[in-house]
Amino acid sequence: MTDKVNLLVIGEGGREFAIAKKLKESASVDHVYCAPGNVGMPSVGVEPVAIAENDFAGLIKFAKDHDIKWTFVGPEDCLVDGIVDDFHAAGLKIFGPDARAAQLEGSKDYALNFMNNYGVPTAKHASYRDQTAILEHVDQFGYPVVIKENGLAGGKGVVIAQDHDAAVQTIKEMFASGQARIVLEECLSGPEYSMFVVISNGHYRILPMAQDHKRAYDGDKGPNTGGMGSYSPLPQLSAADRQRMIDEVVKPTVDGLVKGEYHYHGVLYIGLMLTTDGPKVIEYNVRLGDPETQVVLPRLDTDLYQLVDAAINDQPLPAISETAEASFGVVLASKGYPQKPIHGQELGSFPEGSEVEIDYANVTGTLSHLQGAGGRLLMVLAQAGTLQEAHDRVYAYLEKLDQPECFYRHDIGAKAGL
Ligand code: AMP
Ligand code: GLY
Repeated sequence: MTDKVNLLVIGEGGREFAIAKKLKESASVDHVYCAPGNVGMPSVGVEPVAIAENDFAGLIKFAKDHDIKWTFVGPEDCLVDGIVDDFHAAGLKIFGPDARAAQLEGSKDYALNFMNNYGVPTAKHASYRDQTAILEHVDQFGYPVVIKENGLAGGKGVVIAQDHDAAVQTIKEMFASGQARIVLEECLSGPEYSMFVVISNGHYRILPMAQDHKRAYDGDKGPNTGGMGSYSPLPQLSAADRQRMIDEVVKPTVDGLVKGEYHYHGVLYIGLMLTTDGPKVIEYNVRLGDPETQVVLPRLDTDLYQLVDAAINDQPLPAISETAEASFGVVLASKGYPQKPIHGQELGSFPEGSEVEIDYANVTGTLSHLQGAGGRLLMVLAQAGTLQEAHDRVYAYLEKLDQPECFYRHDIGAKAGL
């Protein structure tokens, strides 16, 4: 009776919750499955499937057995490990870059070479395999200097060393922990922005802008995390600066992907800093960001299913239209995150109403009786006429919670004057 389609999302966090929820809202979509998903997902009509995200054979079998039109990959690890290549080899459609293109996130050295080759502005940098060589050259960058592990590090492989002694200690520790390659970068300064670009072989569309908050504690203090809160739109970003980012960063990147014969059908997340010398790329990620996705997708008026379907099938991409509403969200994390998050704490339930929505991530149990599973547990979100109103609703909800085994930041949106 229906020609509605079934879709599969890969991943288990808040980002995948938001992707699956948005796809489920499309009039063209019937079932949305998420592997492995999380116990919160049935609250938005998404079915979790108990298959691990690195079990590519199991995922391929599921997609075939359940008439999945295409699969949307959330996390970077499976992209770097070649999930897209395996799905293609099995004759299945999937949204995300193949293993070669995923190196843009999987290896900082690879990404920097790409930027050099295609004229994308970035920080001055050099990469080293040899401890003696890096220790000889590190002073040339001046201080502070940025020291990065080359491979995937879950946002934790970057250290900004303030002086020579701190740099030497970091470099020695990174090599001792088994890093084969370390990258040094000039320390840039300026406001940091993320752009989420849907790319289909030389064509692109830019999703609504959002800002993340990477440090664990208020006032941008404490260790780097996956991200503690976000909001969209960004009143502090002028249309002229946004256009500069498109002209100077997005366009050469998309053109470089074509020139390098990448056949990129997926999202590229460009982390950049707006320096006094113009926008410069801090990093590429080959997927959507978490927790930016949770605030970006509710502001997308374009049907996400239609957008991704067009991108996968090399059809003209629909225009992006943004809702007039503002979107704001704060992560509730387990005590001890990111170094040593506790887990197993009793959380109870999180009633939603007209005021806020909950995007679940690392939780177990049942929706009426949840336990923490470590790290970032969930995000409290609001959509409202203004950022201030959305902000006030989220914090009013959080302040009423009694969750002594959890914490959250109180200053999300401070840079937007909230
Ligand atoms: P990454 O894992 O590459 O996103 O880096 C984590 C954070 O380190 C970024 O969000 C920036 O705040 C900071 N960072 C990375 N590279 C630089 C750089 N070259 N200059 C200044 N800050 C940087
Ligand atoms: N929000 C940062 C990330 O997804 O990497």
